[in-house]
Amino acid sequence: MSALPTRIEKEAGRTLTPLQIFDITAARETTLSRLLILYISTGLLFMLLPGTFLGVWNLLAISSHRAPDSVSAAWIQAHGHAQIFGWIGTFILGIGFYSIPKLRRLNSFALSAVWSSWALWTLGVTLRWLTSVYQWQWRTLLPLSAALELAAFAIFFRTVSGHRPQDSDKGKLDEWVFVVIAGSVGLLLALLVNFGITLMLAMRGTSPEIPAEFDQRFLVLQTWGFLVPFVWGFSAKWLPVFLGLRSVRGRVLLLAVTLNSAGVLLALAGWMKAASLVLVVGLATAVYALRLFERIERPAKVKGIHTSFPVFVRLAYLWALIAGTLGIWAASLENSHGIWGASRHALTVGFLATMVFSIGQRVLPAFSGMRLLFSTKLMFIAIFFLTVGCLLRVSSEILAYQGWARSAWTWLPVSAITEMTAVTLFAFNLLATFARRPPSTQP
Ligand code: HEM
Repeated sequence: MSALPTRIEKEAGRTLTPLQIFDITAARETTLSRLLILYISTGLLFMLLPGTFLGVWNLLAISSHRAPDSVSAAWIQAHGHAQIFGWIGTFILGIGFYSIPKLRRLNSFALSAVWSSWALWTLGVTLRWLTSVYQWQWRTLLPLSAALELAAFAIFFRTVSGHRPQDSDKGKLDEWVFVVIAGSVGLLLALLVNFGITLMLAMRGTSPEIPAEFDQRFLVLQTWGFLVPFVWGFSAKWLPVFLGLRSVRGRVLLLAVTLNSAGVLLALAGWMKAASLVLVVGLATAVYALRLFERIERPAKVKGIHTSFPVFVRLAYLWALIAGTLGIWAASLENSHGIWGASRHALTVGFLATMVFSIGQRVLPAFSGMRLLFSTKLMFIAIFFLTVGCLLRVSSEILAYQGWARSAWTWLPVSAITEMTAVTLFAFNLLATFARRPPSTQP
């Protein structure tokens, strides 16, 4: 049994009746759900404004000039940072604060930690975006933004790795926990590298732009080293239940994470060809471990969400395989800017965003106070538009940027608007879900 009641009594400084303990626990759960909503809403805001709208703006400018380098690199990096850290990073921190202490059966922790981490993180990511776009006082504000993000992560890490009560089950941890730990290490490394490079730029740089060659390697750490293992970890935890899959091949999944980490290290060392190969082998190993494309054991659980959910989850993993294959192709050509861009987009939008759209709309309504998703139809339309937009973008980016088909320049803006519609519908569906009263409080 959890030691929470004893801890609650300790905090209250007196012995409590079971009913009083129940009331305090329920109130704490409600506050945690509200804090999760705060994190998710903040992530959605980063996704929409500094993330997607700037991304669309950049792409429209690139398409109208028919030149990939017609937009400032600082603006492109501001968009990427807002999406990776502002959107998905904020989601991960919020879900982590809400679920990891429960899963690890930790002692209760001070909710002020959740607040302070949110405040530091939000301020850090906002400052980063503003300094990259407006370049005001960037020599001071750029490293400050990176330090704030690191401080927020330190509070998060301290909280979710807190002490387990003595009477808790000391059994061995499931493999998915190690995969999530690998993702956390990736996040910590990304934040440390980010702090180091912003400090270097502040001391010796001429602008807040990360030099292109280093940025390319750093992006591999941010995507394959941080986001990908997190998604694998959550996939291993939830997909067997949600999709009715057979049990995960745990050891094989750990092998996949090892290969993935090796691929990221190779990329950081600048060996892109070897890195891309190892990353694809790691990914194929993870797909095998998760048994995503094998016969299912039970029907998928799609109550309260759109029935297409299992198809889109599998499609997301196909996008990841496409991203990896395009990476190998790009690494083996000389001028492959368009193929690199397409590979990155297949990973960030095709894999990561599709997974966040699918799993997010599956778990977040329940985590936010056992609410029901506002609209299952909107869920389908958002993921469908995301898929079509991604397909258009990946194909047209290769053809247009590589100079292989001039007509492809005209599809690029269509892809941007289609994806923007998708993210707006996704944000609307979640915000409308949070605005609904949870069933438990309805008369
Ligand atoms: C509406 C959807 C989006 C549009 C229109 C868009 C547009 C762009 C554009 C124009 C670039 C410049 C490089 C290139 O031309 O390929 C770019 C780069 C990038 N995008 Fe997006 N993007 C979108 C969604 C996303 C999402 C969902 C993520 C992450 C989850 C993301 C992450 C990135 C990253 C990391 C970069 C590279 C930044 C750098 O060079 O440092 N994008 N995007």
